[in-house]
Amino acid sequence: MKKITIAVDGYSSCGKSTMAKDLAREIGYIYVDSGAMYRAVTLFALEHGIIQGDHIDEERLRQEMPGIEIAFRFNPERGRPDTYLNGTRVEDRIRSLEVSNHVSPIAALGFVRQEMVRQQQRMGLEKGIIMDGRDIGTTVFPDAELKIFVTASAEVRARRRYDELTAKGETCDLEEILHNVQERDYIDTHRDISPLRQAADAVVLDNSHMTIPEQREWLRAAYERVAGE
Ligand code: DC
Repeated sequence: MKKITIAVDGYSSCGKSTMAKDLAREIGYIYVDSGAMYRAVTLFALEHGIIQGDHIDEERLRQEMPGIEIAFRFNPERGRPDTYLNGTRVEDRIRSLEVSNHVSPIAALGFVRQEMVRQQQRMGLEKGIIMDGRDIGTTVFPDAELKIFVTASAEVRARRRYDELTAKGETCDLEEILHNVQERDYIDTHRDISPLRQAADAVVLDNSHMTIPEQREWLRAAYERVAGE
């Protein structure tokens, strides 16, 4: 099998990360959750008072950007990488509803995207990488050998996020989550820079009615088809 680059893009909470992580582990590839990077920047902004209510102090964030260091370290207990912000593990905190509610406007800022894309491209220099996000097949790795575009209905995705948060003991409201999912879809697809869109050469996967093992098999077959050519 040749070493390739795999780009997985799609809407929020559509199970991209789960299938991408599983494939990475099976085939020994590096897995990068690019959404975690935008979430880590958002957490930083929340913790440093850069976000106040709905207002973002863009100038301060721009100044702080060089001091925001995001890294991934493999956690053998979970069998997946954890996200670190300036040396501190933030894997759980970046998944909170508060971060989810503020991440889209942060991810729409040009100077934030520029820095994240630069770091992502550096991670992919040697191929053997699977990265998921919104603009991986279009902007970060336009030459990726395999591009997947994942989609599922907003209701199915809200229910998945609800189950995930409840399992972690967070109290949440399904309606509020559905609203959050729809709002993020809108911002992600309508922003000026790198909006979420399907690359012309991407393969579409609608997983609304698929189980996790079915998705895993689908992705593995797609990988083998391309890497075995
Ligand atoms: O995949 P996620 O829900 O963890 O992503 C969090 C946010 O980051 C989401 O609003 C979209 C944004 N994002 C992005 O703009 N570009 C990426 N490559 C990945 C995520």
